[in-house]
Amino acid sequence: MFVDSPTDPVFKHAVNRPVLSIHEGIEAFPGEGLRVLGHYGENAMPECVENPTDPGIPTLAAVCDPVELAKHLSLLSLPWDWDTSQAIRLRLLKWHRESRCTFEIALKVADAWQELIGKVYAEDRSDIYQAMEEIRRAGFGSDAEFALPRPLAYLAPLRLLLYEKAPGTRARELILNPRDSEDVLAAERCAHWLARFQALAPRLGPVYTLDDHLSSLKQWCRSLSDHGGPFAKKAPLLFEGLKAAAAGLGRIELCPGHGTYTPGQVVLDGSRTVVIDWDTYEMADPCRDVARFVVEIKRNAWKHLGSLHAYDRAAGIFVKTYFAAAHAAITPNLAFHEAAICLERAKHDRDKQVQGWQQKAEIMLDEGLRILSTDPIEYATATRSVQVALAHRYENGVAAAANKTAFILGLVAEALLDLSGA
Ligand SMILES: Nc1ncnc2c1ncn2[C@@H]1O[C@H](COP(=O)(O)OP(=O)(O)OP(=O)(O)O)[C@@H](O)[C@H]1O
Ligand SMILES: [Mg+2]
Repeated sequence: MFVDSPTDPVFKHAVNRPVLSIHEGIEAFPGEGLRVLGHYGENAMPECVENPTDPGIPTLAAVCDPVELAKHLSLLSLPWDWDTSQAIRLRLLKWHRESRCTFEIALKVADAWQELIGKVYAEDRSDIYQAMEEIRRAGFGSDAEFALPRPLAYLAPLRLLLYEKAPGTRARELILNPRDSEDVLAAERCAHWLARFQALAPRLGPVYTLDDHLSSLKQWCRSLSDHGGPFAKKAPLLFEGLKAAAAGLGRIELCPGHGTYTPGQVVLDGSRTVVIDWDTYEMADPCRDVARFVVEIKRNAWKHLGSLHAYDRAAGIFVKTYFAAAHAAITPNLAFHEAAICLERAKHDRDKQVQGWQQKAEIMLDEGLRILSTDPIEYATATRSVQVALAHRYENGVAAAANKTAFILGLVAEALLDLSGA
């Protein structure tokens, strides 16, 4: 099959045609190489890359070759009748070098472009396709209220996973730019999605063990303390605190986990809540996904408003709604996992070394230490104060701000906590 040039190319400098207005990042100029316009990596600026290659992702070049990609796609029975005489449009969404690269792929279907997502991996990850299929069949189909994107195919020769593009608004946008009660509603929906997933999803993926976790924490601690400065003292202090906290956790009931559940992975589309990015599915302590979500909100709060606690309202509503929906009492596991994720994120900051990383990593270590130094039960129930703070901030209408559901769920969560003796 021959893949033709797109009718409305993007890059003036590429073939001296007008700059595209409707679909940034089009590629596929046969004989002229491939150019990809994209945003990739944390805090990365838009960049134009010619013929992206990555020795760590051996099939990346083939995926970026429109002729090669079209050849593979034409072998699939996709749900749309796409016009194989038209160019395929590719837009680079995120590129983690030597690991994975995500694209938006647009195929011409009648008068429109059908968009889907393709993710190419350094290693075989056909397991993700299988896992998405199994989760979908367990009641999380793309039309369900609580969903994941429909997996379309895994192209083994290209190590390329294809799945539906989820339209909608990221929960992160609503939480970071709260208008009316949108942040509250978004936090509630994220909480309900997680509680439902943990209760109903199939038990798949690598199994979390506390011992493995502690040995990873130890390595991350060493990597930070080797850097010296404030890390030399704070990282081991946090690790020792985590070890002590781990000893008091008791038996952990594992359940299905997403692995990187954050407000950026949740797409809200009408009444549907769709969760993307299934690379890290696992069997884990239910508090791990809760904790990661909260730490990510704090990191965003620090990044955008200079205070870890600027979005505590959404974080508090998320925690309360989750525990009410999961019919669970808040346990010290939440504090343990939050503090552990603080250490992991500090290590991540050290590895990435983006500008200002030292301050960010140190703030993470401080936050981990603060969490562990708070009485676990007091810490776990600290979200109560969020409701109180809410009442002060929105004196005449907590319900208007938090909406009735959140408010009632909050009360239910408090009642559950009281019953549990916490
Ligand atoms: N099903 C989807 N629908 C819409 N957009 C998607 C979908 N899957 C991925 N994306 C977009 O592509 C980006 C990268 O995808 P994804 O998060 O899966 O990659 P990643 O390499 O795991 O990145 P991260 O480091 O953020 O976890 C997402 O932030 C999102 O903008
Ligand atoms: Mg990811």
